[in-house]
Amino acid sequence: MPSVFVPKETLPGEQRVAASPETLAKLRDLGLDAIVESGAGAAAHFSDESYAKVGGRIASTAEVNQAELVLRVQPPSLAEVARMPSGCVLVSMIVPSQRLDVVEALRAKSISTLAMDLIPRISRAQSMDALSSQATVAGYKAVLLGAAHMPKLCPLLMTAAGTIPPAKVVVFGAGVAGLQAIATARRLGCAVEATDVRLAAREQVLSLGAKFIDVPGTQDLEGAGGYAKEASPEFLRRQREEVAKRVAEADLVITTAQVPGRPAPRLMDQGMVSSMRAGAVIVDLAVESGGNCALSELGKVVVKHGVTIVGLANLPASVPTHASELYAKNVLALVRLFVTKGGVIARAFEDEVLAGCLLTHAGEVKHAATMEMLTTKGAK
Ligand code: NAI
Repeated sequence: MPSVFVPKETLPGEQRVAASPETLAKLRDLGLDAIVESGAGAAAHFSDESYAKVGGRIASTAEVNQAELVLRVQPPSLAEVARMPSGCVLVSMIVPSQRLDVVEALRAKSISTLAMDLIPRISRAQSMDALSSQATVAGYKAVLLGAAHMPKLCPLLMTAAGTIPPAKVVVFGAGVAGLQAIATARRLGCAVEATDVRLAAREQVLSLGAKFIDVPGTQDLEGAGGYAKEASPEFLRRQREEVAKRVAEADLVITTAQVPGRPAPRLMDQGMVSSMRAGAVIVDLAVESGGNCALSELGKVVVKHGVTIVGLANLPASVPTHASELYAKNVLALVRLFVTKGGVIARAFEDEVLAGCLLTHAGEVKHAATMEMLTTKGAK
C-alpha cells in the first residue's frame, strides 16, 4: 500500500500541521497507508492518539525515507530533502523565490513537488487555495493583535461615565487578508476605511460596512489572476496624500498590500508614522516581503514615534488549530486530484491545477518563473 507521511514541522515557531485527524481519515479512505511523525500535531492540539484512532500509524522521522507522498506546511530544509526518497511526491508551501536552494535539491532528487502557494487562483481550485485560507486567518489575527496593543477600546460605548467613540481603523489592501481584517474590525465595532488599487475591491469593502478611500484619477490596476499590478510612483503619491489625513487620525492601521513577484509596496513612510496619534498601532502583514511600512521590523513589535508597530511573521501559525484544519483540507482537495481510490498515485500531473503548481518533476524545474530565477542566479 503506498504511504503518505506527515512530518512534524521544524521551522521555529511553525505550529501548524499538514493533516488533521479528519483529513488523515480521508487519506486512509483513498487507500493510503497514513504515517504521522510522533508529535506532528501537538502544537495544533491534535494528539498522536487522535491520529491513531482514525488508523494513522505513529512513527519517527526516519520513516519519511519510505514515503511515496509527503505532506508539509513549510518547505523542507536541505537536510530534510536529503532524507526524502528519490521520486516521491511532495505537497507543501514552498515560496520558490525565497528557497531556490531547496528547489534545486528537490529537482536533483527527482521529487515531484506540488507547491501549495502556486495553485492557480481559479474557481475550480478554490477548495485548494491555501493562500486564501491562511490569509483569512492572518487578517483576523492582525486585528486582534492590533486591538490588544491599543490603549483604547474598539466599539462605541455609551456609559454613565461618558461616551467613548469607536476606534478608527485604516486597512491598506482589500484582498483576502484585508477583507477579513475589515470584517473582524467591524465585528469589534470599529469605524473602518480601506484603500486598494483594484476597483473590484471597492464594492467588497462597502458590502462589509466600511468606507472605501477613493484616490482621484485611479485606473484599475487589476492584472492577471485578479492580482494587483505594480502602482506607479505618481499613483502612490496621490494615494499617500489621500490616506495621510485618515492615518493621522487612526487608532489602528493594518497593512496587507502585496504585488506578486515584487517586494511589498512601501505605503507608509517615516513622516506618515510620526503624524499618527501617540498610542496608535500599525500591524504590517506584508512584513515578510519587505513591509508596507518603512519602520516595521520583521519578527518584532517596536515602538517608534510613540506608535506601536507589529511586524510579527507567520500569523497563521499563531492560530494553529483552525489554520491547520483549513490547510489540511486544502491539501486533501489537491491530493484527490492525483491519488485515485486504491491509493494509486498518478504522476502525470496534466490537470490544469496540478500543472499550474507543479514546481519540480522528473529531474526538471517545471515552473517557468522559478526556472528563470535559477538561470539568472546560475549566470551570476
Ligand atoms: P495579495 O495578497 O497579492 O494582495 C493583497 C491586496 O493588496 C490586493 O487586494 C491588492 O490589490 C492590494 N494592493 C497591491 N498594491 C496596493 C497598493 N499600492 N495600495 C493598496 N492596495 C494594494 O492578494 P490576495 O489577497 O491573495 O488576492 C487578491 C485578489 O486575487 C482577490 O481579491 C481576487 O480578486 C483574487 N483571488 C481569486 C481567487 C479565486 O478566484 N479562486 C481566490 C483568491 C484571490
